[in-house]
Amino acid sequence: MPLPVLRPAPRDQASEPFATDVIAGLSATPKRLLPKYFYDEVGSQLFEDITQLPEYYPTRTELKILRENASAIAGLIPRDAALVEFGAGAATKAKILLEAAPQISAYVPVDISAQFLGGEAAKLERDIPRVAIYPVATDFTKPFELPVAVRGRPCVGFFPGSTIGNFEPHEATELLRIAAQILGPDALFIIGADLVKDRNVLHAAYNDAAGVTAKFNLNLLARINRELGADFNLAAFEHHACYNQERSRIEVYLASRKRQKVRLLGKTFEFRAGETIHTEYSYKFTLKSFSALARGAGWAPVAVYTDAEHYFSVHVLKQK
Ligand code: TRP
Repeated sequence: MPLPVLRPAPRDQASEPFATDVIAGLSATPKRLLPKYFYDEVGSQLFEDITQLPEYYPTRTELKILRENASAIAGLIPRDAALVEFGAGAATKAKILLEAAPQISAYVPVDISAQFLGGEAAKLERDIPRVAIYPVATDFTKPFELPVAVRGRPCVGFFPGSTIGNFEPHEATELLRIAAQILGPDALFIIGADLVKDRNVLHAAYNDAAGVTAKFNLNLLARINRELGADFNLAAFEHHACYNQERSRIEVYLASRKRQKVRLLGKTFEFRAGETIHTEYSYKFTLKSFSALARGAGWAPVAVYTDAEHYFSVHVLKQK
């Protein structure tokens, strides 16, 4: 049985944040869609598939770093702590910390995808019965309240997967500040950050041979069709991802293969041949650039762990 998930009450369709954001994004120049909407049930599953791809090194590298350093990280965590995960997909990474740190007594997975969240939480509850689980289905880019049961406990934020890199630097700063407020004074924050590296390795990670990443990107249009009744022809758009070295970021787009019109909630959107919709940035960091970002948002670096190839990093921060 999936656990009950805290979620906001539904509203009417056209005023839904999803509809409003999609219309605003497709009306903008250049067109864009927000990456948080990738993760409906289909998208969450496709992303899990991405994490298994041979080209997609971040997940397995981060898992290795967490496993190898789990007891060192556990040594930094206070008694009776609550682990609050921002954007919890599959709970595999949190499980490593929960198993290594028996002093953690509560786990709060926060995710926009309620369905995925409920299923994963129930599985974890069976595997680690000692830990009380309080899933929260919300958009963690906006301030939210922690469940009553964990208020006042020492909090450890957990933000793996280099999701921090999916925000523009000013948004990432804002997010780290909001997290500081939510987690409270003295909180720790454990964050995974992908590192700058050979551009071919980066390019391959976002252009896999099996085409799963393309499918994941195109699912955003499929979701708009499903939920908002749009008529995107998926075959008329293609996945583009390239590394912008100057800005240290992967840029992900959906490109229109031809001139076309798309209808959505009574509006018509026109596309030129080759016109792109921007769907995601994935910023890559150096150990130094990440520490600077953290410090600028009120967090002091406590420890950093990386792999032998310096492909990925896990940072432990403490509120200044
Ligand atoms: N956080 C992931 C990353 O930046 C998300 C991601 C992986 C992604 N592959 C993608 C987002 C492809 C859009 C398209 O690595």
